Amino acid sequence: MLDLEKYRKIIVANWKMNGSIKFINDFSEKLALLENLEESTCRIICPPFVYLQRFRDQLNNFYFGGQECSQFDEGAFTGNISAKMLKDLNCNFCIVGHSERRKLLNEQNFEVSKKSSNCINFNIHPIICVGETLEEKNLNKTREIIEKQINESVPENANKNNTIIAYEPIWAIGTGLTPSLEEIDYIHQFIKKDIKTSKDYKILYGGSVKSSNFKEIIQLTNVDGTLIGGASVIFDEFKKILYI
Ligand code: PGA
Repeated sequence: MLDLEKYRKIIVANWKMNGSIKFINDFSEKLALLENLEESTCRIICPPFVYLQRFRDQLNNFYFGGQECSQFDEGAFTGNISAKMLKDLNCNFCIVGHSERRKLLNEQNFEVSKKSSNCINFNIHPIICVGETLEEKNLNKTREIIEKQINESVPENANKNNTIIAYEPIWAIGTGLTPSLEEIDYIHQFIKKDIKTSKDYKILYGGSVKSSNFKEIIQLTNVDGTLIGGASVIFDEFKKILYI
């Protein structure tokens, strides 16, 4: 496992189901030319599985992660990828329990917990995603929802060195909307200080992060990094963020 303590910030690019071989080649050629990248920043790229190997072979200065992994190690699970396989590709991270999967594939907290536990067993840091819907926010249920998700999704073998939490309000993902800075800091503080299961964990913020709001978000006391979707597949945007 990497020593997360040595990083001042963590930037995760979640490419979702975007890209192609040509896109990866162009993107990684440009990334390889970037100089003087900040050493205290941990930069992680999570491309679609099929491009992981290709991307990884082309770049230093970046770590790689899966966007998901199976709750099983191996066997008759058509279409799934295991934590063991991700480790085989030298992945150090894996996004787990993203709200798109929770919603579209009905992923439950206990499955997220199992997947995260498998990651840890193979020396992969799970990045466990939690967040409330707009309806839950309006009903003032954000803390309750997040606490339940964390308590049920973070496995017993997790600790602040091997696991990362990403707070991603579902209504902020891909919408251009974000909570206020005070709200982000408050929820991160709540996760770090008030929820026993995630005490002192590194917490990333995700949801419509781009170069124009990255600086004010990353400067918040309780924000340790960001999980970036849309802006991470636009090279110029991503480059700007890497140099902020
Ligand atoms: P977004 O996605 O940056 O496009 O809002 C974030 C995420 O889904 O991880």
